[in-house]
Amino acid sequence: MDFPVLLKTFHEGKMKEYFVMQKGKLHTDLGILDLEELETKSFGDRISSHLGIEFIVQKPRAPDFFAHAKRSGAPMMPKDIGTIISGTGLCSSDHVLDAGTGSGILAIYLGGIAEKVISYEQREDFIEIAKKNIALAGLSGVELRSGDIVEEIRNLDEKFDVITLDTLDAAHVIPYAPEVLYPGGFLAVYSPFFEQTKEARKAIEETGFAEVRTIETIEREISFTERGTRPSTARVGHTGFITLARY
Ligand SMILES: C[S@@+](CC[C@H](N)C(=O)[O-])C[C@H]1O[C@@H](n2cnc3c(N)ncnc32)[C@H](O)[C@@H]1O
Repeated sequence: MDFPVLLKTFHEGKMKEYFVMQKGKLHTDLGILDLEELETKSFGDRISSHLGIEFIVQKPRAPDFFAHAKRSGAPMMPKDIGTIISGTGLCSSDHVLDAGTGSGILAIYLGGIAEKVISYEQREDFIEIAKKNIALAGLSGVELRSGDIVEEIRNLDEKFDVITLDTLDAAHVIPYAPEVLYPGGFLAVYSPFFEQTKEARKAIEETGFAEVRTIETIEREISFTERGTRPSTARVGHTGFITLARY
């Protein structure tokens, strides 16, 4: 069995999970697991700790990388990634230009769908973290490039179906986007603040994009308890605005 694997158990009404990247002994508060046992296991099988607690073996998927992968900075939240994927209609023949890579979480989701993702990151130390995350996700179609996207976008000779920008300086990248977008392609800009969103929209309008809309996605998890059912009181607050524009 290849690593990483997810080991998950439901104990006293609570789920506990471990994102495991290598063989050896795993010490948990529910006992010690001998990971050599994974050699003979398949996904869906179970292994037991020395205290007899059973853990199910699962193959990690993109949300597990969001939850457990090493982070450099703040990764994009799955709810916002979902808005980008649905809003752009991302599909298996698409080529995507992404910046900045950060922890590589958006690139992992994109790379699980699109044919090719080229992601730029200006910090070498962040690239090293993202490279490891993307290798663990087993994505051969994601290429990480080092550089400042504001400069690099001017020298690109590839074309893309979708461009995703999660950088504070997105407004300085937008004027060059039409040169590298296929006709009918989408630009998606993630901005944490209204001020950045307004800057991005101004650049989008000045660049001549035809269709533009800005969305905030509010996610409410529903809590089910003995007392009743209602939206969870511990909810995710504001994360960012997504501006989608089509050329
Ligand atoms: C918020 S993080 C991106 C998170 C990423 N989307 C994810 O889901 O993991 C922003 C990243 O953009 C990088 N960055 C900022 N400006 C950049 C630029 N002009 N060119 C390339 N990378 C840039 C930063 O170093 C940082 O790692």
